[in-house]
Formats: sequence, C-alpha cells, structure tokens
Amino acid sequence: MSKLKHDLIERSVGLMIVLTLATVSVAGLVEIVPLFFQHSTTKPIDRAGNPLDIKPYDAVRLAGRDIYIREGCSNCHSQMIRPFRAETERYGHYSVAGEYIYDRPFLWGSKRTGPDLARVGGRYSDEWHRVHLINPRAVVPESNMPAFPWLQRPVDASSIDKKMEALRALGHPYSDAEIANAKQALEGKTEMDAVIAYLQGLGTALSNFK
Ligand code: HEC
Repeated sequence: MSKLKHDLIERSVGLMIVLTLATVSVAGLVEIVPLFFQHSTTKPIDRAGNPLDIKPYDAVRLAGRDIYIREGCSNCHSQMIRPFRAETERYGHYSVAGEYIYDRPFLWGSKRTGPDLARVGGRYSDEWHRVHLINPRAVVPESNMPAFPWLQRPVDASSIDKKMEALRALGHPYSDAEIANAKQALEGKTEMDAVIAYLQGLGTALSNFK
C-alpha cells in the first residue's frame, strides 16, 4: 500500500477501527468456522477416526452433572488430561475432543486444587465415593476437599425431561422413550446417587483405547 493510503488510514480513527474489525473478524472466522465441520470436534471419534462408544448422558447422570455444576466441583477439579507424560501416567489417556461432544457446557476447567476427574469413572467403588462425599477425611485423611453431606436429599426430577428435550433440540440423540422415562429413572434417587453415577461414567468410553 502506498505511503499516502497508509497515512490516510492511520490518521482517520473511524476508518482504522472499521478496517481493524474487518481484519479481526475474517481471522476469527477462519479459525472458528472449520471447527463446526471438523469431525473430531462434532462426532464421537478418536484421533484415528475410529468411532467411540459415547452416548449422551442418561437421566440420572445428567441430573448428577447439573448438581456437580451447582456445587462448584469444577472450581477445584479439571476434566481435561493434557498430552504430557506426567499427566497420562497419573490420569490415563489424554483427553480427545470427541469425548466432549455431549458436554454442554464443557467442564474442562483449569484449576486443580483436587485431581483431574476426566477419567475417574470406575477408579473407586460407589461406596468409596459415598463416604468421600459425606466426609473426604474419612478416606483421605490429608484431604482439604469440603464435605457435601446435604447431597443425601432426594434429587429434583421436576425438569429433567424438559432438559433432555432442550438437549435433543441441540442434537443429542435422545429417544422419545428415554425422555418419557426420565422422571421415573430418578425416582427414589438421592442427589448423591446422581453425582456418583455421573462420576462413574467419566472418561470410560476411551478405557480400551490405547
Ligand atoms: C475446595 C476444592 C474442592 C472442591 C470444591 C471439590 N473437591 Fe473433590 N477433591 C479436592 C481435593 C483436594 C481432592 C484430593 C483429596 C481427596 O481425595 O479428598 C479431591 C478429590 C476428589 C475425588 C477423588 C479423585 C481421585 O482421583 O482420587 C473425587 C471423585 C472428587 N474429589 C469429587 C468431587 C466432587 C463430586 C465435588 C463436588 C460435589 C468436589 N470433588 C468438590 C478438592 C475439592
């Protein structure tokens, strides 16, 4: 561009703002738009393109996930294993994009006051989790995780079918029967049952994947 045109742009704040916004928007779109079409971020597949056994959260796990969010568990626990040896030796296979396609919003987090939970599913028994959530010090004496004894109250099932319908509108493949039976699935369950069901499913779809 000739010096004269450059002078014009640099001296006119309005023109400078418009051109800057245009440049940033194009650059942003070039980065973001391909992600909508890239299968590794929209389909349950591993890096080699093999299908993963990932299903949307069933009613109990979905309710558990909402309680997990409500209680702020993700303020202390990330759910994203980075591809570093120190992480994969401790937590298991690093996380892949396809694992999170039914996470709205995703709970990757970055704060690790406690360990990453992306693959905690199946690591402990349900009973261990129950004791741990009621009083973490009962199983891990040095733990500074808060106790969550109030999770022993019944889980609120009143809007679970509506939540599943909303997620279905966003593309989660729930069947009519799954939605119709959602309230029944939560009957007699405590909030703790739901949180534990959620924890026990975390990261298990990749467990056979090397
Ligand atoms: C203030 C920070 C904090 C919050 C909030 C918190 N945790 Fe923890 N969590 C920890 C710490 C620290 C540990 C490690 C010590 C232990 O095992 O208790 C831990 C450990 C765990 C473990 C065992 C992980 C492993 O691999 O050994 C689970 C499961 C867990 N937390 C679940 C939860 C859930 C579910 C919630 C929300 C209801 C929650 N945590 C909220 C700090 C926290």
